[in-house]
Amino acid sequence: MKRRKFLNNTVKASSLFLANQLYPFSNIPINEFPFKKSDFGKNFKWGVATASYQIEGAWNVDGKGPSIWDTFTHNTKKIKDKSNGDVACDFYNNYASDIALVKALNFDVFRFSFSWSRILPTGIGDINQKGLDFYHKVIDRCLELDLEPWPTIYHWDLPQHLQDKGGWANRDIINWFGEFTNIVTREYGDKVKNWMVMNEAASFCAAGYLGGLHAPGKISYKKFYDAVHHSNMCNGVSGRIIRSEVANANVGTTISCSYVEPKNQKKKHVRAAQKIDAFLNRLYLDPLVGRGYPTDAGKLFEKISDRVPSEDFQKLKFDFDFMGVQNYSRFIARSFIVPPVIHAFHVPPKKRGVPPDQITEMGWEVSPDGFYKILKQLGTYPEIKRMIVTENGAAFKDTVNNGKIHDKQRISFFQNYLSNLLKAKQEGVKIDGYFIWTLMDNFEWAEGYRPRFGIVYVDFKTQKRMIKDSGLWFQELLGE
Ligand code: BGC
Repeated sequence: MKRRKFLNNTVKASSLFLANQLYPFSNIPINEFPFKKSDFGKNFKWGVATASYQIEGAWNVDGKGPSIWDTFTHNTKKIKDKSNGDVACDFYNNYASDIALVKALNFDVFRFSFSWSRILPTGIGDINQKGLDFYHKVIDRCLELDLEPWPTIYHWDLPQHLQDKGGWANRDIINWFGEFTNIVTREYGDKVKNWMVMNEAASFCAAGYLGGLHAPGKISYKKFYDAVHHSNMCNGVSGRIIRSEVANANVGTTISCSYVEPKNQKKKHVRAAQKIDAFLNRLYLDPLVGRGYPTDAGKLFEKISDRVPSEDFQKLKFDFDFMGVQNYSRFIARSFIVPPVIHAFHVPPKKRGVPPDQITEMGWEVSPDGFYKILKQLGTYPEIKRMIVTENGAAFKDTVNNGKIHDKQRISFFQNYLSNLLKAKQEGVKIDGYFIWTLMDNFEWAEGYRPRFGIVYVDFKTQKRMIKDSGLWFQELLGE
């Protein structure tokens, strides 16, 4: 027993040594800390979040089947820089050193997602052993470095074969998703205790089935309504499967959420803000906590609710141990006479005169106050037991100077957002963790590789990783 402990400690120590050799601590002064790690509490989790399609590459290797993102990037012209995730960060081959990097930066948690078609090439039926093995390696690498692996079962890369059957618009997905959940929980449940069902149903339903901007590129109200309801059902059904299959599981899911303010206090704009809030936030959260669809917010929501078989409402509800909260910006609502969708739209920051340094490469306004307000808003839900911020971060233009990336804007983004999280927490909102988006620059969906969200810079030609100043800032904050 003693010998085993000694060996384990030796492996851990040498991995850390390796990580520190690869990524030495910089001697640049990083001394702006408006708070200390300990202010957030002893049990507060600090993590980095990633997603399979955005980092793994190896799109057709070792038996993996195609996903909707392989098809979408290869067959449409909808990716801004015409790129794809065929190689991405080549995490499939670099996972050991990338995970060592997470440890070297002093985080506790590595959040990643399973590529469904790597494990089940056609989404159902035959299992690909090499796919299962890959995630064993990822999980084992985390455990040997004393990092907690937090998988998300689904982060947008549906197997193409299931899309051919209608994807999220087909009610059968509730069974397909259940089968996949059963497989991964049985396979990894002994080693993994923290689980998230899915990543932001709001994004893949709206961008994938209504706006046509993301895979599978559909533009259809009917498909959108169905995708929304089926993804909500999968959250409830899959949450129950995790709880029954994994002893002592900490079960969560993630929702994208943004604070919505009216342009001014005119009644019509206030109403527009309520509608956008329902469209972005409540449509996905309320059914999960047992409140049903937000029918008070307008016809669209009534239509979605009317289509739902009454026996579904009970299944939608699940008492998650935590809600994964993902926030990037805020929305400013104004009423709009012409549909689409809800007679309301968002006034972009440029049009409101927001200074350019407060707008990210995604065109999103930097709004730490919006972050605080959405945390407070979610804090009014007694059904939410605990929250973990499972994604927050920003894309800014990065320049490499002699191997250094002085990303001051990103550091100040994190300082301000974290200060606001702390304020909400000190006022009683139950927030138990913060995961940054994201570890390293990666494939940013329809935007391609231009927006860089990482705290680690990736040179995509050489796959070289370089820690940005923001990464060093976290290393020092979390190393206290
Ligand atoms: C998604 C990530 C994405 C990030 C920035 C989140 O909604 O979960 O996959 O990269 O936003 O756009």
